Amino acid sequence: MREINPIEAIQDPIFKIITQAAQNIGVDCYVIGGFVRDFLLKRGTPKDIDVVAVGRGIELAQEVATLFPQKTKVQVFKNYGTAMVKTSDIELEFVGARRESYRKNSRNPIVEDGTLQDDQNRRDFTINALAISLNKDSLGFLLDPFNGLQDLEEGIIRTPLDADITYSDDPLRMMRAIRFATQLNFTIEEKSLQAITRNKDRIKIISKERIVDELHKILSSKTPSIGFKLLLQTGLLKIILPELTALQGIEEKEGQKHKDNFWHTLEVVDNIATATDDVWLRWSALLHDIGKAPTKRFDKKIGWTFHGHEFVGSKMVYKLFKRLHMPLNDKMKFVQKLVLMSSRPIVLAQDIVTDSAVRRLIFDAGDHVDDLMTLCEADITTKNPKKFQKYHNNFKIVRQKIVEVEERDHVRNFQPPVSGEEIMKIFNLKPSREIGIIKDAIKEAILEGEISNEYEAAYQFMLEQGKKLGLKAVK
Ligand code: CTP
Repeated sequence: MREINPIEAIQDPIFKIITQAAQNIGVDCYVIGGFVRDFLLKRGTPKDIDVVAVGRGIELAQEVATLFPQKTKVQVFKNYGTAMVKTSDIELEFVGARRESYRKNSRNPIVEDGTLQDDQNRRDFTINALAISLNKDSLGFLLDPFNGLQDLEEGIIRTPLDADITYSDDPLRMMRAIRFATQLNFTIEEKSLQAITRNKDRIKIISKERIVDELHKILSSKTPSIGFKLLLQTGLLKIILPELTALQGIEEKEGQKHKDNFWHTLEVVDNIATATDDVWLRWSALLHDIGKAPTKRFDKKIGWTFHGHEFVGSKMVYKLFKRLHMPLNDKMKFVQKLVLMSSRPIVLAQDIVTDSAVRRLIFDAGDHVDDLMTLCEADITTKNPKKFQKYHNNFKIVRQKIVEVEERDHVRNFQPPVSGEEIMKIFNLKPSREIGIIKDAIKEAILEGEISNEYEAAYQFMLEQGKKLGLKAVK
């Protein structure tokens, strides 16, 4: 970081235009926030650029737009006092420097015009308060009143003002602190952690959508467990995702223990993060065991059981998504399905892997069979190297079998080779129970391997089934 000269951050020609526009209307302006942070971290030059103007931010945006070679629209958000200028690949957001004071029950502050320093004071973290001057006489100067640069170098999340004030003013920042700690592998300053713990209940005034947005970002990080540990430690997790904290703890009865399913879950999530970027598959890993808390029982003969936890868990997914205002669409159904099926390949691999078991797995999982296998592989967290190897080998065999069976039998998106309409015609039936019975028998025979997944075999089989039901074929 030391070798980086802040002026390198503002080499894009767009900054020349902003400098010129600021001079034209006589305001000072600075690029600030995530753009500066990510540049200094060598995370590249982000395409979202925040510019703060000491004075008229909206007017500056309009002046910038007039200087663009091509006609450009300015989107003004009067309520927020901000304006956006978009080019094909950059989004510029302009805001007037402000001083903010907050009321108790709301994230929405009372806003007054302020100096650059006022504006930096109101920001969430020292590493997000760094500003680079875009003014002719001080072009490229880094304005760093809170030693944000040092915090960037040392990997520390710290608030510019008293942490209690910063988090209480805008409780979303508690999630942001934990999210940045996870994304950047930074440490949250102890004072901040304590303040988050004290203010945790204020998260309730934040919209669910914003909370979920941060959860997505935590889950999308390289090591999501960093964030979930911090959420647990500060007490936020119990408020946001009590289904997860309920998995915590090890109970022992009559010398029998079960594993701590919370810590196991975090291992599974970190494992799956090495295998996929799909955030919904990562959600599936996070939630795959939530049914274990309500289904836990102790049986004198067999010890701890979690019978039906997959089914209960998949029902809980719906409630959880609904409560957090997450989409109740095919993404949710995907997570539900993976939770519901999360033990299937494990059970299957414990025995000799038969073709019919694999056909049923493919039939039930459909297009998600590969994702399901990825989840099951991530679920292997045993510390016994022999077992670890054995389970992985078993799943390798299952995966091979899936490919073989699918190539031969095509049951992935199973379409019955003989349709219901055809059955009706052949036996001269009106819509009735018998059609369902015959169709089901054909499907079962194919999955069991009694007949092949082909029209001719299914047709003959259908005739036999009809006969058994006392039906007569009419052609
Ligand atoms: N900010 C803040 N408090 C918030 C949100 C944002 O003080 N609750 C300030 C920070 O200075 C932040 C800037 O506004 O850097 C821009 O916010 P945003 O675009 O949401 O985040 P970035 O920091 O740019 O990071 P990311 O894009 O990863 O969310």
